[in-house]
Amino acid sequence: MKAAMLRSIRASCRASSTSHFLRRAFSSESHPERKVAVLGAAGGIGQPLALLMKLNPLVSRLAVYDIAGTPGVAADISHINTRSEVSGYAGEEQLRHALEGADIVIIPAGVPRKPGMTRDDLFNINAGIVKSLCTAIAKYCPNALVNMISNPVNSTVPIAAEIFKKAGTYDEKRLFGVTTLDVVRARTFYAGKANVPVEGVIVPVVGGHAGITILPLFSQATPQANLSDEQIIALTKRTQDGGTEVVEAKAGKGSATLSMAYAGAIFADACLKGLNGVPDVVECSYVQSSITELPFFASKVRLGKNGVEEVLELGNLSDFEKQGLENLKPELKASIEKGIKFANQS
Ligand code: LAC
Repeated sequence: MKAAMLRSIRASCRASSTSHFLRRAFSSESHPERKVAVLGAAGGIGQPLALLMKLNPLVSRLAVYDIAGTPGVAADISHINTRSEVSGYAGEEQLRHALEGADIVIIPAGVPRKPGMTRDDLFNINAGIVKSLCTAIAKYCPNALVNMISNPVNSTVPIAAEIFKKAGTYDEKRLFGVTTLDVVRARTFYAGKANVPVEGVIVPVVGGHAGITILPLFSQATPQANLSDEQIIALTKRTQDGGTEVVEAKAGKGSATLSMAYAGAIFADACLKGLNGVPDVVECSYVQSSITELPFFASKVRLGKNGVEEVLELGNLSDFEKQGLENLKPELKASIEKGIKFANQS
């Protein structure tokens, strides 16, 4: 048990090491054929995410799709001397070709926040976009793993589930809300406060992906540090408000794109490793879950050849985290219900 835990800690350290990520881009190891499609690939997150997927040697075919602009993105990154063959697709009539044969579909499509907006304020626009993309996924690559980045993730994942259920293709093991940026932020902020090298830091983040629904479990962070209650409260708040910090700094020009792309690439890489049978790949993700009474919940997930292999329990929580868990449930529940209602009424 202990050995398995150590392996998984080492595996997730490896997955999060940037230098390893770049070193691997030019490795000559052979890997199975894998097609990845990025939907929304001309956007602020989509472009750097497409670049990072082009650097991933586990990808053999990379399809970049958007309503416009993707021929340029595809031509640009296709000149990079890494393994994958890149194709660009623009406009709804080409979506089918982007999706056919995809093992993983990553969805950063949609509009970002402006200062003063919550992720839920994006619902009206992004919910419709996610709905139509998921309808196409159900048709053209029903077995792909779907990595949802489009906000509000707390609602767009339930929307996707409902669309797939209606199409008869839903498999809860294949649908993921990407919450990796919360983990990335929690690790960075914790390392700064605890004054430890960031590369070795692990912090699970559970719940959802908006404000107080983001619950970092600093009581389970490694390496352990003697932080005061005030410091833990401040770290928790900074992690929860990390997205807003970027939205305000960008002052109307959008939300996190580069760090989100990095996080999306880390999560897709973990999914690819799982598909390829690499053992003990564990990442936090927002998935269908029965570890709380909520039907969707982010927690540590073991990834395997079929997607979710195991949704891991929360483990021991501090009193502060137990309170945070109770506080987030009503908001997360409402966001889930909002998504389900949208998918079924329109
Ligand atoms: C964030 C957005 C992209 O967390 O959801 O910054």
